[in-house]
Amino acid sequence: MNIHASTSRAPAPVLRVEGLSKQFEMHHLQRTLFAFDNIGFRLDEGEFILLTGENGAGKSTLLRTLYRSYLPRAGHAYYHTREGVIDLAAAADVDIAVLRRREIGFVTQFLNARPRVAAEEIVAEPLRLAGTPHAEALEQARRWLTAFGVKSQLWPAYPSTFSGGEQQKVNLARALILPQRLLLLDEPTASLDRDARRALVERLAELKASGVAMIGVFHHPEDVASLVDREIRLETIRIADGADDVAE
Ligand SMILES: Nc1ncnc2c1ncn2[C@@H]1O[C@H](COP(=O)(O)OP(=O)(O)O)[C@@H](O)[C@H]1O
Ligand SMILES: [Mg+2]
Repeated sequence: MNIHASTSRAPAPVLRVEGLSKQFEMHHLQRTLFAFDNIGFRLDEGEFILLTGENGAGKSTLLRTLYRSYLPRAGHAYYHTREGVIDLAAAADVDIAVLRRREIGFVTQFLNARPRVAAEEIVAEPLRLAGTPHAEALEQARRWLTAFGVKSQLWPAYPSTFSGGEQQKVNLARALILPQRLLLLDEPTASLDRDARRALVERLAELKASGVAMIGVFHHPEDVASLVDREIRLETIRIADGADDVAE
């Protein structure tokens, strides 16, 4: 189902990126490493952008910059909330924290869970923080863990003891349990088995149909082929000259 097909309303933008650039100062090497330069695109509600490029092209750095784990060197990333527009490149940290809680999700293959918290509690937490009663949040969490193929014996256990694939499933369930408006996906399927990848793609299709905008890098891009509206390819920036001038 395409929510835009049946309506004449123009799709609403979620993100407008203009001239976004990021470089890393490698002080110990007295070098500047350009991760990406002058990136621009627009992402609408319900749109899915596949981010591609060689290893080291800057894909993860671009996603982290949009999540504001990194500050860009230049440019803008205008995020359209329902109340107004906020530039992710310049917003205050407190505003970013609110957006991360309610609107912008980041999904990687790595689980960064607090120790000694049960898997099912980790997954339920975003719902609980949003006000869902504990019992109901837990019930939904278990449904998600089941969908991703996490065995019920593991639900009350601590994910620090899980295999990489199991940790990734817990991570995905947590990241996707509470629908957000913008999802940034950095190789979320890298170590998942086929069934879990299928469950993930089903969930992403549902989210897309409900209007969630997504931009992501995928280890198995063929999995998400049916979801992709556009592809953005990052080119590796190679510095031809001048890079050695600063080194003494
Ligand atoms: N925190 C960092 N400090 C310095 N260099 C970094 C940092 N993060 C990434 N880089 C460098 O930026 C470039 C882009 O990395 P990355 O965004 O991880 O690429 P991709 O995800 O496309 O493989 C690489 O050359 C990488 O070594
Ligand atoms: Mg990467």
